[in-house]
Amino acid sequence: MFHTAEGRGDFARLMMASSLLTLQDTVKARSVDQNFKDVLAYLLTLTPPKYTGTIDQSLASTGKTLFLKNCAKCHGENEGPNSYPNLLVAQKEVGTDASVIEFYKNNQTFTTWYNGSWFSKNPFGANLTPGDGYVAPPLDGIWATAPYFHNGSVPTLADVLDSKTRPVYWQKANNPNNYDHQKMGLKYEVTTSKTDTYTYDTSIKGYSNVGHTYGDILNSNEKLAVIEYLKTL
Ligand code: HEC
Repeated sequence: MFHTAEGRGDFARLMMASSLLTLQDTVKARSVDQNFKDVLAYLLTLTPPKYTGTIDQSLASTGKTLFLKNCAKCHGENEGPNSYPNLLVAQKEVGTDASVIEFYKNNQTFTTWYNGSWFSKNPFGANLTPGDGYVAPPLDGIWATAPYFHNGSVPTLADVLDSKTRPVYWQKANNPNNYDHQKMGLKYEVTTSKTDTYTYDTSIKGYSNVGHTYGDILNSNEKLAVIEYLKTL
């Protein structure tokens, strides 16, 4: 669980932690802990919303072949026995912003405390074991979850697939109809600098949009085909 796979053990225990901030006593905390396995079971029944726009099925089928060749070894085949491999990919392989990983390497106070605390006690114990990379996430419902990567640095799927088009400074369009059905993701405006607090500035430490260049070898038609396939997930 979590981008660097730091959450291990019982996920319900990891998820219930934020509830503790609002509780008044340990009796209530114990009851939340007991009930949270039901919340987790409920979450596991949820399926992602289907893409509401049109899908060119023949293009999507070409995209599926390209996806199986170029992407599935990390993200899985989305169906069948190799549906989802649940892989932690080394940061030096995927190349996305390393700050979260460096943070955990240099700041072990919290993880050490957590792993010796009540949270780690069985039954239902959990522990924090940050990895040296990022989980290749499942891509079901990916059309609906822009912006992309663990730091939300890339506004659309088209930009995930083409590292050269990723904007350095960008702002999401400030209107309710801000979904881009061509590039698949947030409609955005490119600015030449950080103009206000709403600008996503990829030059700030931790905000970089580098890495994950696996789409770059695809030509423009192939990129469109992969995007069409991603709409079906
Ligand atoms: C070597 C493993 C690997 C390959 C190959 C790979 N990916 Fe990824 N992918 C990752 C990892 C790891 C992440 C998470 C990176 C991060 O968050 O910093 C990721 C993230 C993504 C995301 C963003 C997910 C999100 O929720 O923000 C998309 C979309 C994606 N990959 C699509 C693809 C497509 C399409 C291909 C093939 C062209 C591909 N990937 C090939 C490992 C891989």
